[in-house]
Amino acid sequence: MKLFLDTANLEDIKKYASWGLVDGVTTNPSLIAKEGVNFEKRVKEITKVIKGPVSAEVISNDAKEMIREGKKFAKWAKNIYVKCPMTPEGLIATQKLSKAGIRVNMTLIFSAAQALLAAKAGAAFVSPFIGRVDDMGQDGMELIEEIVQMYANYNFKTEVLVASIRSPRQVAEAAMIGADICTVPTAIYDKLVKHPLTDNGLDKFLADWKKSKKK
Ligand code: E4P
Repeated sequence: MKLFLDTANLEDIKKYASWGLVDGVTTNPSLIAKEGVNFEKRVKEITKVIKGPVSAEVISNDAKEMIREGKKFAKWAKNIYVKCPMTPEGLIATQKLSKAGIRVNMTLIFSAAQALLAAKAGAAFVSPFIGRVDDMGQDGMELIEEIVQMYANYNFKTEVLVASIRSPRQVAEAAMIGADICTVPTAIYDKLVKHPLTDNGLDKFLADWKKSKKK
């Protein structure tokens, strides 16, 4: 499973990329706004650090404008994926952009039926928001199981990108289900590495080693 970073913070992207395990980056208008930076400048900066897919989201509501935005983003770098929302206009834009060879990440997916439409529209990625599904009292991971099964049934090429991650356990579960990609906020990325027993175990090994050196 590919691991993406879910952030627009350039310093964080550089830091985690240096660990060697970042396959791509997802941004959205909220993440860009949080950084208080120019959208185009930041997306271009990210594409220079990360060679894998970098998602940039359109902000218009009608298909024509989404297509115009998408075509503009695609010129910024070779690894840009255009995020279009799951709306009728977003579906029209996804089909047009995909046919023009521009890869689309269909976002704001909350049901298996929406994921079916995204795949039929030719989206390269589909982004189900599992944390927000959980927040509604439903089971976000069940949604991932449904989509993975559905795409396997019909051999859809669309990759399942698990988004809105809230815990390290969800990342492991997404991998066990066979999702293609998980996009992880930096706070959760840290927790993927950490385990108190690893820290305790290491402290004990080093203390024992020091003791043995005194003999
Ligand atoms: C990524 O593509 C999504 O926009 C993001 O994971 C949404 O996460 P949130 O539900 O924590 O805002």
